[in-house]
Amino acid sequence: MDANDMGNALEKVLISEEELDQRLSELAAQIDRDYPEGDLLLVGVLKGAAPAMVDLSRKIHRPVEMDWMAVSSYGAGTKSSGVVRILKDLDADVHGRNVLIVEDIIDSGLTLHWLRENLLNRGAKSVSILAVLRKPDAAKVAVDANYVGFDIPNEFVIGYGLDFAEDYRHLPFVGTLARHVYEVEGE
Ligand code: PRP
Repeated sequence: MDANDMGNALEKVLISEEELDQRLSELAAQIDRDYPEGDLLLVGVLKGAAPAMVDLSRKIHRPVEMDWMAVSSYGAGTKSSGVVRILKDLDADVHGRNVLIVEDIIDSGLTLHWLRENLLNRGAKSVSILAVLRKPDAAKVAVDANYVGFDIPNEFVIGYGLDFAEDYRHLPFVGTLARHVYEVEGE
């Protein structure tokens, strides 16, 4: 899917495919430098992190293992409550391992705050965080992401893993949705 397929549902491209590619290359190079040797387990958080996990991992030039978790926040509406339910757990045992969580976005920061604590409680040796996007509210919760692609404004973003009603995850760029789409289909 690309911008042409969206017609007037797309308000604007916020981060282009080329910008994402370039930034992920930089972050992958940083990861190569930060983990020169030893074990590294990438944990992708479904579903949003799927494109980033695939693209990032192919730019990393050292061995990595990949695993996936799916989590869901309890609570009504679009705001995270901070209480997280595991929908799909890791196959791997993280005890004693270096873990790098890969996420598409930090919004309130509550999901990643919970996830990092959860993996540390399982005995992970280290837990780092990569987020492609970070919204301003993330600063309110103590989530120190080690690798951040882009700081973005507090807008309704879609694409590159991010959905609206499960659509648009397969856009190769990050964009904003035209207001008429979510005002009609939302609520
Ligand atoms: C999104 C995103 C993060 C979380 C961020 O996932 O992928 O996991 O919300 O929000 P927070 O910082 O406010 O906690 P979502 O629950 O929408 O699931 P999805 O990835 O399957 O779309």
